[in-house]
Amino acid sequence: MDKVVKKFEKGLIGEITIPSDKSISHRAVMFASLANGKSIIKNFSNGQDPKSSLNICNALGVEYNFSNDLLVIKSCGQLKAPTSPLDCGNSGTTMRLMSGILAGQGFNSVLIGDESLSKRPMKRIIEPLSLMGAKISAVEAHAPLKIKGSHLLGIEYNSKLASAQVKSCILLAGLFAEGKTIFTEPYVSRNHTELMLKAMGANLYVSENSVSIEKSNLNPIEINICGDISSAAYFIVAGLIVPNSKIILKNVGLNPTRAGIIEVIQKMGADIKILDKRTQAGEVVGDLEVNYTESLKGCVIKGDLIPRLIDEIPVIAVLATQAFGETVIKDASDLRNKESDRISAVVNELRKIGADIEEYEDGFIINGKKELQGNCEVETYHDHRIAMSFYVAGLICKKPIKINSFEWVNISFPEFEKIFCKLM
Ligand code: S3P
Repeated sequence: MDKVVKKFEKGLIGEITIPSDKSISHRAVMFASLANGKSIIKNFSNGQDPKSSLNICNALGVEYNFSNDLLVIKSCGQLKAPTSPLDCGNSGTTMRLMSGILAGQGFNSVLIGDESLSKRPMKRIIEPLSLMGAKISAVEAHAPLKIKGSHLLGIEYNSKLASAQVKSCILLAGLFAEGKTIFTEPYVSRNHTELMLKAMGANLYVSENSVSIEKSNLNPIEINICGDISSAAYFIVAGLIVPNSKIILKNVGLNPTRAGIIEVIQKMGADIKILDKRTQAGEVVGDLEVNYTESLKGCVIKGDLIPRLIDEIPVIAVLATQAFGETVIKDASDLRNKESDRISAVVNELRKIGADIEEYEDGFIINGKKELQGNCEVETYHDHRIAMSFYVAGLICKKPIKINSFEWVNISFPEFEKIFCKLM
């Protein structure tokens, strides 16, 4: 499905509620499946990715009922051998976290994915899992992953990457391993796994950039999942760059390990207010008021900020085209390993619509403020975040743009356009 997006000058006005966090939804369904008893998950995501995790848990013998955003999981705390390959679809989180869970089970399993997921690197989890004693075979470290359930031993692992998927994979394997597992990362990546496992009774301890875990039985959970800051990011940026906008975003997750975009836009001079900051199911949540800001200024985004806004970089690039001066994104080479190579996707497509952007191995530099011309077709590279970022860009292009294969937004945010329309 192609989508034509036109300049919107009237201003985006109104109050919206941001749908459920994808990362937390994955974890809630997986961890509830490992607990003995009934878990209640309110506001479970409607995205295709978390549904892949749900379907896999179901194929592993876990019962569920899902209606009106309410997911009830019933598990005996033990997974059963699957009868066919487990399909992770487009979801890297599903494949990497499930690998950690499945490596230490008493049965074999195979994880498969779509074309994009089958090209993404799995060495980052195969290597540490193998050190724990896992038996995983994969051609050139790509899916399908054939996992032979094995007896695992805890390890101390220093990861070169700050990756929540790798961290969570190893911690989950550590739940089933003999002895202690300690995972250390260069910068702290999102910590939803640590918060949720701890709340469910796991023997887990955090000290700065390290997390340790030991074999544990998990208690069922009751959780109300907050709104996804990665989904909110499109509305935050649109509110800042579409003249005359004023948007209130309700129920946005503001976990400090995820909320790097808020720090960045504040540094850029954005007119944003955080209202009613509170804690919900162990996660920081708040409402945001975003106002159009004419004179944003460029900034440097690097180092420990990168894992805290990794998924927001494509839409931050759109924002940077409307900021005066240079915006530099560096230390972000892992963006090339996401659902698409997000560095080259952003550079190619932003350049097409008229941005001044220079590509580097680990990021890009954008010079603003530039009026975006549009009047062209934009590719999504089968990547939901590229599709949504360019929808936002289209709202300020002088001439309309046509976004090809826009349906990829359904991977994380099926309600995306409907919510935009509410503001128009
Ligand atoms: C995620 C972690 C990030 C992020 C992805 C979701 C998670 O990936 O890009 O969309 O839920 O743990 P990495 O851990 O590979 O950086």
